[in-house]
Amino acid sequence: MDSLDPADWSDLRALGHRMVDDMFDHLQTLRDGPVWQKMPEPLRRDLRQRLPRGPSSPAAVYENFQRLVLPYDTGNLHPRFMGWVDGGGNPVGMLAVLLAGGLNANLGGRDHAPIEIERQVIAWAAEMLGFPDAASGVLVTGTSIANLIGVLVAQSASLGPSVRRTGLGDSRLVAYTSAAAHGCLPRAMEMAGLGRDALRMIPCDDQGRMRLDALTAQVARDRVQGARPFLIAGTAGTVDIGAVDDLTTIADFATCEKIWFHVDGAFGAIAALAPKLRPLLAGIERADSVAFDFHKWAQVPYDAGCIVVRDAARQVETFGAEAAYLRREQRGLAGGGVWPCDLGPDLSRGFRALKVWMTLSVYGADRIGAIAQQACDLATKLAARVDREPALERLAPVALNIVCFRFIAADGDLDRLNADIVADLQEAGVAAPSTTTVNGVLAIRAAIVNHRTTHADIEIMLNAVLEIGRNRGEAARAIKKEPPVIHRGQVYREASRLGDAGTSGPFPATSAGTLAAVPP
Ligand SMILES: Cc1ncc(COP(=O)(O)O)c(C=O)c1O
Repeated sequence: MDSLDPADWSDLRALGHRMVDDMFDHLQTLRDGPVWQKMPEPLRRDLRQRLPRGPSSPAAVYENFQRLVLPYDTGNLHPRFMGWVDGGGNPVGMLAVLLAGGLNANLGGRDHAPIEIERQVIAWAAEMLGFPDAASGVLVTGTSIANLIGVLVAQSASLGPSVRRTGLGDSRLVAYTSAAAHGCLPRAMEMAGLGRDALRMIPCDDQGRMRLDALTAQVARDRVQGARPFLIAGTAGTVDIGAVDDLTTIADFATCEKIWFHVDGAFGAIAALAPKLRPLLAGIERADSVAFDFHKWAQVPYDAGCIVVRDAARQVETFGAEAAYLRREQRGLAGGGVWPCDLGPDLSRGFRALKVWMTLSVYGADRIGAIAQQACDLATKLAARVDREPALERLAPVALNIVCFRFIAADGDLDRLNADIVADLQEAGVAAPSTTTVNGVLAIRAAIVNHRTTHADIEIMLNAVLEIGRNRGEAARAIKKEPPVIHRGQVYREASRLGDAGTSGPFPATSAGTLAAVPP
């Protein structure tokens, strides 16, 4: 008989210990390396192999991981990764992923402890949001899928669960969200079969919040035209600038109009854990459903999205699974009440909950809230510095942790210049902000999410932006043609020169505010 377990465990055990040590070393020395480096083409070719028919030693495969994968990851562990909204992970969460992999539990259903852990995590999420204890929910890959679940539950609440059999017919359902909402909401409408045109993108005010007058007028217009408003999706933390909709007023309006109120709180919902930020989210506790991620601002390793639904019955009505082989029993392994597969589209599901449970248990929710507050404080300082620099222009208000700005030169294509500055920063490995468009112009977007990011990191990023911007501007003026590419070594040197005084090496080493494990 063949089994994949080794006859002698000692070599694999030693390798496993080495892997854990190596990853701890990697986490401890992040600052010494570049934020990101492009994977060279020859190494990509090395990765492409035909299906391995025979075995290799685990040590040899691990060597390939170290050579081909580890140096060329996304970079979001690094304190100067400020692009998109990627979380920084944490060492305890990493260990939880190892444990979950070892356990290999399937959380689709049945009666076992891992599902109890997920139920506990959902109860904590409900508590964080101010939802009732009876709220239900499920962990998913991310907020994109959590929003899709929100749309489907709202749809079923509006048309009744028979929509699962009959389909949408000519129901003419329409939904509402802000023009600044994340692209996964129109996609959710597409996937739900409603079509993206049925999502009304309501204009925003000058703070990037959904305009309530425009929402009210659009709902009235739709009703007159015979459409059926079924969902308003507010946003707590828009992806571009971090704006938070006026959730209380939306809740009032949705209640009055009897429309499902959903909140996309992908990263912003975690602000509920920070006492000074929490008032910004006022009204979220009145939502019918909230989608958010633990893998962004809560620093849980990917992936860990979450949907919480106030009325548990609505969620079960939408997804309850009926197949004969999923038959529930009063006792035995097939017991256990409502299964996670009754709450979302997945049947087989991994043990995502463990890394969330361990992260929250070890650090405590207050510490996660403090990390969110720290990110917002850094964003405020960054915005103030941008405002003081004549060569920089801030492009949006800062509600939470995102600062959008650009370098201004006297002449030339500013969008091109700023896109080049960001690409230079990334390719030099100095910092990784991303770009977005704000009011029609290209912005450098610094989203401070990572718990390792310090004030010194912000300064290094900003000083490098200024230096690259000036070099590129001068070079462009001098030779009146394509500006030269800034070389990696050059920017490294600039970064070390421009970093905060009192730090050693090219990148200042400081652990303030990072998620080091709390001693027992
Ligand atoms: C506001 C908002 N909604 C939804 C998403 C999508 O989340 P995920 O990438 O976890 O699917 C994001 C991602 O950045 C976001 O910022």
